[in-house]
Amino acid sequence: MAEDRYIIHGGIRLEGQVAVSGGKNAAVAIIPAALLGSSASVIENLPDIEDVHVLVEMLRYLGAKVEFDGSVMRIDPTTVDKYNPPAYLAQRMRASYYLAPVLLGIFMRAEVPMPGGCNIGTRQIDQTVKGMSTLGAQVDTLGGVINVKSDKLIGSEVYLDCPSVGATINTVLTAVSAVGTTTIYNAAKEPHVVDLANFLNSMGARVMGAGTSIIRVRGGRPLRGSNYTIIPDQIETGTLMIAAAATGGDVIITGAIPTHMEALSAKLLEMGVYIREEDDLIHVRSNGRLRGISLKTQGYPGFPTDLQQPMTALLSICSGSSLVTENIFNSRFKYVAELERMGARIRVIENTAIIEGVDHLVGTSICATDLRAGAAMIVAGLIGEGTTEITNIGHIERGYERIDKKLRSLGAMIERVTK
Ligand code: EPU
Repeated sequence: MAEDRYIIHGGIRLEGQVAVSGGKNAAVAIIPAALLGSSASVIENLPDIEDVHVLVEMLRYLGAKVEFDGSVMRIDPTTVDKYNPPAYLAQRMRASYYLAPVLLGIFMRAEVPMPGGCNIGTRQIDQTVKGMSTLGAQVDTLGGVINVKSDKLIGSEVYLDCPSVGATINTVLTAVSAVGTTTIYNAAKEPHVVDLANFLNSMGARVMGAGTSIIRVRGGRPLRGSNYTIIPDQIETGTLMIAAAATGGDVIITGAIPTHMEALSAKLLEMGVYIREEDDLIHVRSNGRLRGISLKTQGYPGFPTDLQQPMTALLSICSGSSLVTENIFNSRFKYVAELERMGARIRVIENTAIIEGVDHLVGTSICATDLRAGAAMIVAGLIGEGTTEITNIGHIERGYERIDKKLRSLGAMIERVTK
């Protein structure tokens, strides 16, 4: 069977300028939200990635007219006539369950198969269920389907037990269709939550406080289609910054939002990396061996769990020892075994990786066990001596737009091959 792979000849310093694509996690929330408009929306700066393609298929299945040129998408929701996306599409990504509150708002019912997404630990949806039911929906998840219906959605107060990104987004998406005011306490503050709120507001909604832990939504307002440009991808930006630092590179990343990167920039500075920020540009330069550090993942503005994996790959060759504590997902260290195959010395005890920096990694055949693990494998391949073969790259292409091409433009020797 043909299997697509990346082949990387490591040890080359990345140099040059590269532009960041639009944000995956913003895109996958904003595209379903466009169905709530009474007319077509045009969304710009979308990443050309597998998750977005799957959403396009799902929207078309539901009856929407969708045109996508790889960056700009026009979504006409006026012909949507189904409330039950199929499992074969929904299970290919995490964000498919954002369709549940959206279709509930349109039809007062929805049947959305439980979402898929990366296997990085328990990914409960109890807080989403709580948000939707507090606003007046009956929700059950029997048979692996989120089955939700309501006679009337009414604004209310929702306290989230943890600042879940998915539950915050699902509750906001329910609240815009609920009559009256909803207040969400302990909301996630991630940039993509803010971007979704801005998009909904551009459609005529009133979502206030996004980016803080208390979000207020005055619901029940008619929403219209909108023209909107989504934010750059925070995690792609971070992955490129880490790759630049790891190779002793000199890279200017454009089209980024430097303030979204503060947690990573602070850590890279601590490790001895030079960073300069200017408007939408981040300049990363490093040479010589970087210092090991300690970090703990947290919700925004803390260190993002989605950068934990590529950062661990970089720390594996830094001097001294490093500690990486994963606080968001309970099984996000499976990829460490792949790094060990390249010579990394990492011990995982409960939710902490203890990394003893080695002088170098050595290329071999490794597997991308999930999306950000794939990013870690790419960083390891760029550092590693000799040739690294990365298999299972479908995971990577779900979330990174032509990462091989972008890295090649910076001088990396990375090829995408199909055997
Ligand atoms: N949680 C619960 N109950 C819930 C919801 C979440 O206990 O109802 C727990 C989860 O089990 C998990 C933690 O809270 O341990 C965080 O989950 P969250 O809901 O915040 O994550 P998510 O919405 O499933 C999004 C991103 C992830 C990113 C996390 C954390 C999207 C589509 N996915 O996932 O992105 O890691 O937030 O920031 O936005 C990725 O891009 O590679 C990725 C995995």
